Amino acid sequence: MTSPLRRPLIAGNWKMNLTLVQSVELARAVKDGVAAAAGETAVCVPFTSIAAVAGVLKGSSVRLGGQDCFWEASGAFTGEVSTGMLVDAGCQMVILGHSERRKLFNDTDETVNKKLAAALKAGLTPIVCIGETLEERETQKTWRVLETQLAGGLQGFAPADLSKVVIAYEPVWAIGTGKTASPAQAQEAHLFVRGQLEKLYGKAFALGVRVLYGGSVTAENVDTLMAQPDVDGALVGGASLKKDSFLRIMGFATA
Ligand code: PGA
Repeated sequence: MTSPLRRPLIAGNWKMNLTLVQSVELARAVKDGVAAAAGETAVCVPFTSIAAVAGVLKGSSVRLGGQDCFWEASGAFTGEVSTGMLVDAGCQMVILGHSERRKLFNDTDETVNKKLAAALKAGLTPIVCIGETLEERETQKTWRVLETQLAGGLQGFAPADLSKVVIAYEPVWAIGTGKTASPAQAQEAHLFVRGQLEKLYGKAFALGVRVLYGGSVTAENVDTLMAQPDVDGALVGGASLKKDSFLRIMGFATA
């Protein structure tokens, strides 16, 4: 069970899924079910659905996020979305550096760092994703990868600037594969991440920061993952697209 210093967060990452009508329907179900949630609940939806979902979630405690942003405020950046636009459309959060973006769209620790600065400036809660590939795990590079991604992505800030930041540990080999990290593997990595954050930003910061686990989280495995002392929540892809499974994950039980 997570420390009382940290409020658990279950965040759905809808990725590139759902039409407007489907988004509104799922958002309604999440809103209607949030009273039974065990912690804070968020949905990170496609850009095209943000405004409509914001309308649905108005007045509820469900937080709304984008799945990426650009670091400039405005201008000739065809296809990009700024943090100000996310806020304007109704977001309070944004996912940064998801492994799919790192792999397919060239996000790097350096660009994640710039996006993080823009997100914090706009008052958004950033969910910064880190995680090793299967090859990196098998060649004993996991800790080095996590250390590099954290140091690079979070560099140049004071602890107070980062008070809103959420980290998501998402082993790439577990994303969308049905191969979840075991609770022990997740705990080991989360403890390492917290240790790195302590080195970078001090003990108080490390104790307060939420570290989510992501990678094939389901209604069936959420409880054992959430029972780990350093797992403060989950970033949920596939299982966040179905009302029943996401509502069950929101209502995780650790006892
Ligand atoms: P998954 O995705 O739950 O479908 O594995 C998690 C994520 O990529 O955030």
